Amino acid sequence: MSTEINNIEIQKATTSKISNVDFDNLSFGKVFSDHMLLGVYKEGKWQAPKVVPYEPITLDPSAKIFHYGQSIFEGLKAYKDANGDTFLFRPLDNWKRLNISAKRLSIPELPEEHFIEGLKALLQVDDEWIPKKDGSSLYIRPFIFASGNGFHASPADEYTFIIATAPSGAYFSGQLKVLIEQTYSRSANGGVGFAKAGGNYAGQFYPTQLAVEKGYQQVIWTDDTTHEYIEEAGAMNIFIRINDTLITGPTSDRILDGITRKSILEIAKSENIPFEVRKISVTEVVEASKNGSLKEMFGAGTAAVISPISAFGYKDTDYDLPKIANSYGERLKKRITDIQTNKSDDSFGWRYKI
Ligand code: PLP
Ligand code: COI
Repeated sequence: MSTEINNIEIQKATTSKISNVDFDNLSFGKVFSDHMLLGVYKEGKWQAPKVVPYEPITLDPSAKIFHYGQSIFEGLKAYKDANGDTFLFRPLDNWKRLNISAKRLSIPELPEEHFIEGLKALLQVDDEWIPKKDGSSLYIRPFIFASGNGFHASPADEYTFIIATAPSGAYFSGQLKVLIEQTYSRSANGGVGFAKAGGNYAGQFYPTQLAVEKGYQQVIWTDDTTHEYIEEAGAMNIFIRINDTLITGPTSDRILDGITRKSILEIAKSENIPFEVRKISVTEVVEASKNGSLKEMFGAGTAAVISPISAFGYKDTDYDLPKIANSYGERLKKRITDIQTNKSDDSFGWRYKI
């Protein structure tokens, strides 16, 4: 039997898996809520999405996603406040970025109401799945892929849009040691680095695995031409503090325009934290580490939130970051998570109540 929330059809699951979930010990993205949002593009048009039970989907072996990798995704989180109200953080920015990715991958752009109204209905149906514990949240994964068939290397004529959700804890555990990459590249000028395209992540797995074997958790990508300028990490943008100045590289067609990154820059401005958006060379970072002016390095992203980096490797040498009190990383993390979880005012207007 189906019902409706704000014109979104709801087909409820007959049983719930929620009693199997240990909400006190959540890892990242491993258990999935009872429902998902499902929409289809066919005959030249996105059909209205529906909330349906979370379950496997069937695809033809010739579906173009398998052969040509036409696939994009987003990541955002839902938070509960002390009153049990639910909030999203800048969800319209995720919708806009999904369509920036869609355009680059020749995927038809998704109407705003399908994303926002569909997500709101899904969160209402799976309200019980949104963790209440500090540091946990419901990770939301919207994605679109080519479900149309055929071996011809050209855009598909059918696409599937899904939003799946997973109650999640921290993305990284323990100290974060990163390797500054000198051989492989994540993206190149004119490529798809700025898009959240599945292939950008697949291409990182092998170099990241090599780094993991050497004791690092993530790779910090450098520019593909000289490997001299810091770009971003596999799942987050990078911030570096030299003396009192917070620095992050400019976005480009090689770098994901992170929503956390741009929020941090706005918070830094409002808190009079000196910051610069400019190219930052590995030589500068290594020199700063040697002369003691390198104070902090952290990654910023939805899954990563703000993750302090404890050491970086570069050309067979490891450089430790100092442990400092009242770090910018801690301050900014508190500011942003307080806004996300409705513990503080939101003068920026970023919080979005469901
Ligand atoms: N860079 C990459 C490659 C990412 O996958 C992410 C995560 O989404 C980010 C940066 C951070 O982006 P955001 O803050 O919008 O989550
Ligand atoms: C996110 O932070 O939402 C991402 O998409 C990163 C992903 C690799 C987990």
